[in-house]
Amino acid sequence: MKLIKQISALDTFPVRHPVLRDGKPVESCHFDGDNLQSTIHFGLFESDKLRAVISLFEKKNSRFETDKQFQIRGMAVLQQHQKKGFGEILILNAEHYCVQEGSNLIWFNARQTAVGFYQKMGYAVIGMPFQIEDVGEHVVMYKKLTSC
Ligand SMILES: CC(C)(COP(=O)(O)OP(=O)(O)OC[C@H]1O[C@@H](n2cnc3c(N)ncnc32)[C@H](O)[C@@H]1OP(=O)(O)O)[C@@H](O)C(=O)NCCC(=O)NCCS
Repeated sequence: MKLIKQISALDTFPVRHPVLRDGKPVESCHFDGDNLQSTIHFGLFESDKLRAVISLFEKKNSRFETDKQFQIRGMAVLQQHQKKGFGEILILNAEHYCVQEGSNLIWFNARQTAVGFYQKMGYAVIGMPFQIEDVGEHVVMYKKLTSC
């Protein structure tokens, strides 16, 4: 059985660490703003075991005019559980949360290797690729959300 639950920033580390910060100190899993009240973390559990995480930071990117914007960070699915639809479920849940919070724009810095996944989820690239130190090449991606 799959379940999405709100979790703490610290709870995300067992997934963030091997997937996004492999070989780096565990402290590198902490992101600025992780513990702000406006930040939320979700975990996807399968039979009570954490398989995937996503975090949403209320953060405005000057490329976009929308007042209330959310940035996705720390999107990660444990390697042995990738390509099972967990990422898709977490993104859809994140979009639902943002709409509920009165936002119609999600953006993030996407790893080049994940761009195809986000494109499948309806996200578009804006601007030129850039480097994030120690992590690699990224592009900004975004989606305008509509409430239904
Ligand atoms: C990228 C990631 C979040 C995707 O999650 P996932 O659970 O593996 O993806 P899903 O199974 O939900 O895939 C949904 C669709 O996207 C496709 N897809 C998944 N990863 C992909 C990738 N890296 N590139 C292109 N397409 C991809 C799937 O094949 C599937 O397509 P389908 O519906 O036609 O079968 C996950 O693989 C991951 O954690 N990767 C390593 C860390 C990472 O890159 N995080 C993102 C940082 S910006």
